[in-house]
Amino acid sequence: MPSYRAPRGTRDLLPETRAGLSRLEAIARSLADRGGYREMEIPLFEQSAVFERGIGEATDVVEKELFRLAPRTGESESWALRPEATAGIVRAYVQHGMHTRPQPVKLTVVGPMFRYDRPQAGRYRQFWQWDAEAMGDPGPAVDAEVIEMGWRFYAEAGVSGVRVLLNSIGDAACRPAYLGRLQAYFRGHEAELPELERRRLDTNPLRLLDTKDLAMAALVAAAPKIADFLCDACEAHFASVRAHLDAVGVPYRIEPAMVRGLDYYARTAFEYYRGGAEGQQQALGGGGRYDGLVELLGGRPTPAIGFALGLDRVLLALEEAGAKAPHEPPPLAVVVGADPADTVSRLRVASLMRAEGLSVRAELAVRKLGRQLETASKEHAHFAVIIGDELADGHVQLKDLEAGTQRVVSLADLARELARAAKSHHHG
Ligand code: HAM
Repeated sequence: MPSYRAPRGTRDLLPETRAGLSRLEAIARSLADRGGYREMEIPLFEQSAVFERGIGEATDVVEKELFRLAPRTGESESWALRPEATAGIVRAYVQHGMHTRPQPVKLTVVGPMFRYDRPQAGRYRQFWQWDAEAMGDPGPAVDAEVIEMGWRFYAEAGVSGVRVLLNSIGDAACRPAYLGRLQAYFRGHEAELPELERRRLDTNPLRLLDTKDLAMAALVAAAPKIADFLCDACEAHFASVRAHLDAVGVPYRIEPAMVRGLDYYARTAFEYYRGGAEGQQQALGGGGRYDGLVELLGGRPTPAIGFALGLDRVLLALEEAGAKAPHEPPPLAVVVGADPADTVSRLRVASLMRAEGLSVRAELAVRKLGRQLETASKEHAHFAVIIGDELADGHVQLKDLEAGTQRVVSLADLARELARAAKSHHHG
């Protein structure tokens, strides 16, 4: 007997969990809509180079976690599943010449991402993100607007006390001097570095700061801070982002060691954590400014900022807080029949009602009317539409299962009658 299981690090979302995710997606879409972000789709896979160049070769996401697709024979292109949405959105922005549209172009994507990560609670190989990007605005006001939208998402989703960790990681003007100092610092501790980090010391010293290696915590904590190296322009930008956040009432904490794990960031960087969980490695979401990425992927210099929120982690947080899964709405009506064998009539009437937009189930099991009605009640249907001899002259019995009343209704009026009841009872 074969016994198949979902691949390691993936999970089936059974209807209860899917309903929870749909609820989060609806909140995300509503917030995006209110903020002027338009939803788009990008492929689930891209040329690997989009991620290698965009996110950076010497990052965990590319070096260790990229889901590469085995090339087919004769195919020279190399593909990978998307580990995030930003690089793909930027690729699309460039490909479709979106710089000719009124700027900023505000885009949003909701969907699954893939990272070949070591699976654990809250860390999956397929996970869902709500991603939002504002492209073509140098900020700083839009930085705060983006951060506020993400923060509001958690509030509307019901995750309480989410904290924003905020930092500025400088730009092309001031970061090189900082990187030099950082490199010198870690070089002085080279013997204490794990092998991967030692390699990155030359290629990408910033990444040592977001190492997942807990043994490096003390070393990272004592490392030089970018805050002490910011140029005047970055300093002013950062101060203004904070002033805008204060004005809209978003609480944040400045976290000088937070540099994010992807290479494309400049200036504003932020992460969201559950209150009291800032010390943990699992952020609920994160984002930042990436003024160089559009150019890096072949477009003109375009300032941009965005975030991605991990929806699986929000579901987990809600579950841990004891939130109930959204309840499944009962059908407005179940079509039952006096003649157990006459499934044709039951299906036909249900089909007519569904064509009118109503949520109506047909009892298709061949069993006695009493049993059919019992199941309808158990499902908490408001009505039973009972098909009997009256159908010959176009009538059915409409039984209100809650009130216990019953009357004859013509088939022509049935949809209208049900719709009226649905409106007053919030069914269907
Ligand atoms: P990120 O920090 O790599 O940023 O991911 C954002 C969020 O996705 C994380 O905070 C986390 O909640 C969730 N996440 C990441 N990996 C996993 C995983 N293996 N399992 C479950 N959840 C996960 C980005 O992806 C950037 N694209 C954000 C951005 C948009 N920056 C600018 N624009």
